[in-house]
Amino acid sequence: LGYFTFDPGFVSTASCKSAITYIDGEQGILLYRGYPIEELAENCSFLEVAYLLIHGDLPNEQELNHFKFEIDDRAVLHESLRVFFDGFHYDAHPMAMMVGVVGSLSAFYHSDLDISDPDNRYICATRMIAKIPAIAAACYRHSIGAPFVYPRVDLDYCENFLNMMFSRPEKRFLEQARSIDETAVKALNLLFILHADHEQNASTSTVRLAGSTGANPYACIAAGIAALWGPAHGGANEAVLSMLKEIGTVERIPEYIAKAKDKDDPFRLMGFGHRVYKNFDPRATIIRQTCHEVLRQSCQPDPLFDLAMALEEYALQDDYFIEKKLYPNVDFYSGIIYKALGIPVDMFTVMFAIARTAGWVAHWLEMTGDTGNVIGRPRQLYVGPSQREVMPLHRR
Ligand code: CMC
Repeated sequence: LGYFTFDPGFVSTASCKSAITYIDGEQGILLYRGYPIEELAENCSFLEVAYLLIHGDLPNEQELNHFKFEIDDRAVLHESLRVFFDGFHYDAHPMAMMVGVVGSLSAFYHSDLDISDPDNRYICATRMIAKIPAIAAACYRHSIGAPFVYPRVDLDYCENFLNMMFSRPEKRFLEQARSIDETAVKALNLLFILHADHEQNASTSTVRLAGSTGANPYACIAAGIAALWGPAHGGANEAVLSMLKEIGTVERIPEYIAKAKDKDDPFRLMGFGHRVYKNFDPRATIIRQTCHEVLRQSCQPDPLFDLAMALEEYALQDDYFIEKKLYPNVDFYSGIIYKALGIPVDMFTVMFAIARTAGWVAHWLEMTGDTGNVIGRPRQLYVGPSQREVMPLHRR
């Protein structure tokens, strides 16, 4: 291999030093800035966690109020950005719109792009966190032909998103759906906290790699969104719902469990297993209870929910899954919760992107603030032909 180590997928290469998130896959430990995910989930709002990720510590009340003010102040979309959506056909995948519209922010905000100035970097970071829910909701509203809804300063981050998604001109979402509103906001807050960061995953590494060149920060986040889109990353919760639809009925679960165990069958149980967590996914343990709560209170019962719960029970008792330590991961539950909250399946990865934006910008800030930052430039193991001569066209 000459001077290089061959490490496809970077499974044993640390690409950077980071003080943001710590994971111990064997023990099922996840810490943001040293705080256990369980305690953050229990005690904090998503905005507190976003503040923690980018500032390094939890805010006191005054700091949080100021942060909320900064987010509210930057949450409204430029009117010209709305026109951008008209370029997309109504049935465009919302993640395709996200990549395009978030990337286009780089064409709107360039006066403050001297990213050697920490104040400018901070404005970019908070602007991203502020605008991403409005952009995400606009993707959905565009797909159903509904008018866009402005963010409101009297609502918190998650309430605001639900309001921008579902409110109608005469009523806001929270008034329409009183029976589930509190549970919906609580569940969303929890899911956003659990998905906010996960150290050097594919999308975060993409943001860092793009950012290492000094590229426009909004373009870097758009690159992260593109990386998140794949079914092996942020698309897993969407894949869980497709799988449940395919299984169809509780009676067919054993047939699909058998397929998942069959070495000659490429089928895998979506939402089970994890590359890093080999005993349990701490995020799944937290969200499982909320998932059961949301399903109990859902005003739109769906046979898919019964099927999901039966599949969970079945797999947790099956020897193959026990021996290989394959437990439901966070995305098994997140897809089911989103479905129960009335979020369309093709918006699931968009939900992930809203939450992960906090992590992406925290990593971008950490990297751009580090004087030792170098351009990311992996090497390769060349396996092509050795040097040869170019024949003129008439002799080939
Ligand atoms: N269903 C059935 N068998 C499985 C599954 C599954 N979901 N996952 C792993 N296995 C088996 C696999 O066949 C292998 O068997 P053997 O030892 O006989 O060869 C063994 O378990 C170890 O699997 P692996 O592929 O070496 O494990 P990995 O760490 O490379 O893969 C994974 C992790 C998440 C890609 C995989 O478990 C999987 O494909 N799961 C389903 C997709 C999914 O839910 N993805 C979302 C992950 S969470 C998202 C995030 O945090 O961003």
